[in-house]
Amino acid sequence: MKLILIAAHDPHLVIGNNGSLPWHYSEDLKFFKKQTMGHPIVMGRVVFEELKEKPLPGRENIVLSRSRSYDHVKTFSELELALEYLCGEEKVFIIGGGEIYRQTLYRADQLIITEIKSEHKGDTWFPEYRDQIGDKWVEEWRESHPEYDFVIYTAK
Ligand SMILES: NC(=O)c1ccc[n+]([C@@H]2O[C@H](COP(=O)([O-])OP(=O)(O)OC[C@H]3O[C@@H](n4cnc5c(N)ncnc54)[C@H](OP(=O)(O)O)[C@@H]3O)[C@@H](O)[C@H]2O)c1
Repeated sequence: MKLILIAAHDPHLVIGNNGSLPWHYSEDLKFFKKQTMGHPIVMGRVVFEELKEKPLPGRENIVLSRSRSYDHVKTFSELELALEYLCGEEKVFIIGGGEIYRQTLYRADQLIITEIKSEHKGDTWFPEYRDQIGDKWVEEWRESHPEYDFVIYTAK
């Protein structure tokens, strides 16, 4: 199973503010959809609330929470149990938020990053990984746009 973290961050690794995204780029949302479609996605309870507790279609939605469980979506109270459940999958996407990225970065096989070029106010950050580019992370692909770049890093 390939574990992939997919995130958009600003130049200071900001990913969120007040429980939502600090920016809106429809092309980034389309990119996210294209990458994740057909594969399981794992998210923290805060992200699921941001989605108004509506699972994203066409993907198995897995929510991590120690405090809640939902009738309409598979919930795990431990990350390890979720990953065990998903171990037969070809690709599993970790879609955030900050707490879940922090717990999974060290074991990720790939990072799919939207580098937002403008700075944003935030209260949630992606964990530091850029100090390991060239060491642990190899930049495999980059597509540049005026306001953001899409980048794929693969673990060595
Ligand atoms: N820019 C991006 O790409 C991106 C992507 C995703 C999210 N975001 C942003 O990130 C922010 C949300 O991130 P966040 O760090 O506040 O919250 P989060 O990671 O979405 O969720 C945290 C919650 O997940 C549960 N949890 C965490 N670790 C767990 C574990 N090991 N086992 C079981 N449950 C676990 C806990 O829920 P309980 O409290 O219920 O126990 C915890 O409170 C929002 O602002 C959102 O917009 C940005």
